[in-house]
Amino acid sequence: MSVVELLFNPLEPGFADDPYPAYARMRELDPVHEHPFGFWLLTRHGDVSDILRASLSVDDSLVAGGLVRDQQEQMDQLGSRVLRLSMLDRDPPDHTRLRSLVAKVFTPRKVAALEPEVTALVDAALDEIAESKRVDLVETLAFPLPFAVISQMLGMPPTDHARIRELSGLLVRSLEIVADDETLAAIAKAGAELAALTRELIAWKRDHPADDLLTALISAENDGDRLTDEELVAQVVLLYVAGHETTVNLIGNGVVALLRNPDQLALLRSDPSVAGNAIEEFLRYDSPVQQTRRITREPYTAGGREIPVGAFVIAALASANRDERVFGPDADRLRIDRPEARSQLSFGAGPHHCLGAALARLEGRVAIGRLVERFPALALDGEVTWNGRINLRGPGLLPVAV
Ligand code: HEM
Repeated sequence: MSVVELLFNPLEPGFADDPYPAYARMRELDPVHEHPFGFWLLTRHGDVSDILRASLSVDDSLVAGGLVRDQQEQMDQLGSRVLRLSMLDRDPPDHTRLRSLVAKVFTPRKVAALEPEVTALVDAALDEIAESKRVDLVETLAFPLPFAVISQMLGMPPTDHARIRELSGLLVRSLEIVADDETLAAIAKAGAELAALTRELIAWKRDHPADDLLTALISAENDGDRLTDEELVAQVVLLYVAGHETTVNLIGNGVVALLRNPDQLALLRSDPSVAGNAIEEFLRYDSPVQQTRRITREPYTAGGREIPVGAFVIAALASANRDERVFGPDADRLRIDRPEARSQLSFGAGPHHCLGAALARLEGRVAIGRLVERFPALALDGEVTWNGRINLRGPGLLPVAV
């Protein structure tokens, strides 16, 4: 039992349910915080925005020490860290090469062309919801929509979706501080199994090529030095997981925020032109991805403090998005017509800026827009519970009546 009282403790009970008071305290008391666990934490908008845009590393093997280093080493010993070769964890020149192979598919124009398909998927889900009347919205809309969309884009063969969901739900915990060895072992095991499953899916696709992202990546790999076997597996796992474990929270958090703020729900219904801005405000108000990170290759100055080489720096996107210096004294309020909502940092920034941002915005806008339009009596129908995660945070259970 530690006798040191931590200024910031993401492992403390209640943090994952409502991290915002803790982040507000850090913005005020110690915005560039050297944490006793061996990481640094940036919580102000200006510092977070700057570090994401600076040319720092994302390669965890450069981390000099502390809990994060221990966590990486344990995971390595346990066998698999499948995302290590994904673009999210690579620096140039690998990052540039990997990202450019995938970026073509996610241009705003290509994504906009998916709108009819996304709308059809949403409407089919809403038809089922209309029949049931009382549902968990995570199960019926927020999860299945992004899962179906990314599966279709990749051209995934039919597979055991429940198992994939379980495994990816564990794997994403590797993106946060983990308290106990048992959880670490479960995460490592899930990563290995997901990689093995992905190899099987890739093998199937080699025999059944089609006009999809998976086939395009396989042909890049066939070309020789553009993509190795293991890199291919890592990009597919990243896209599959990032494609649904994030957008589920945009839809879930957005709906919770609206239903808890009836004046804002009324505004959205009365003025559909505000829908685009509303998505930015949902992203700002309750970030689907709460943190990202950078690793220093040389000393880095933030908020007047020098961070040494080999530091693991957590950029708290969720905190930056509530910074009163940028969003004003009512930063803790949901205001879907907030003019500065577009300054939100939920998709990160700089070289690793989210590749799926346009797709996530499209899915969020169509899903939430059509849901509130179709069901005038939509209301919460029981207690919302949170998924217990520090990073990819959203409702675990979202009971609504329509
Ligand atoms: C990277 C957030 C949806 C694919 C990221 C990053 C964040 C993020 C914070 C890291 C940025 C950084 O470190 O600077 C989100 C949020 C989403 C979402 C909040 C939904 C609301 C998606 C979707 C896809 C996707 C739907 C793909 C289908 C990616 C990829 C990267 C990434 C491939 C790595 C980019 C790189 O390293 O260059 N995302 N994401 N994301 N995201 Fe998303």
